[in-house]
Amino acid sequence: MRALGLAALLLTWVGVLAALERKPTDDVAQNYTLFCAGCHGESGRGLPHKVPRLAGRLGLYLGVPGGREFVLRVPGVSNSQLDDGRLAAVMNQVAQRFAPEAAATMAPFTADEIHRARQRPLVGVEVERTQLLRAAGVDAAAIAAEY
Ligand code: HEC
Repeated sequence: MRALGLAALLLTWVGVLAALERKPTDDVAQNYTLFCAGCHGESGRGLPHKVPRLAGRLGLYLGVPGGREFVLRVPGVSNSQLDDGRLAAVMNQVAQRFAPEAAATMAPFTADEIHRARQRPLVGVEVERTQLLRAAGVDAAAIAAEY
């Protein structure tokens, strides 16, 4: 019993320390929590006028040409502390959770693809986003007004 309690205490501390130091882990969901959720939220809702929502929105980008590259090249993704492999795993889980229909038909993100996207960081996020949303046939101005 005592050993179990101690193990649990240690595990709690490991969790707390990981959160404090934000060290990448081998748990994909935890990496999302540590490196993305602070801005986009656990449920991908974003922060009004600050951070775009991912839930129900990511699929729009993934459905149009250039959108797949766009979502890898935005600063929060390309500048992430996560390495290419861990980031690819997070992006695949993000796609499955927040854009399940797109995720079901697309090829998974790969570490190589992330690596290449990181060589081409995005300048002019707004312009590119507007073009993609127009291509997706949605009201880009209304979406832009959210943030
Ligand atoms: C510091 C806050 C922050 C963090 C951390 C962050 N993001 Fe973002 N993210 C943003 C903002 C702000 C934008 C809008 C892009 C811009 O205007 O520069 C964005 C854009 C995006 C987009 C494109 C969606 C759109 O509508 O523009 C995706 C996909 C995305 N982030 C995923 C992630 C993932 C996955 C992570 C974790 C690896 C992450 N972000 C970490 C703030 C953040």
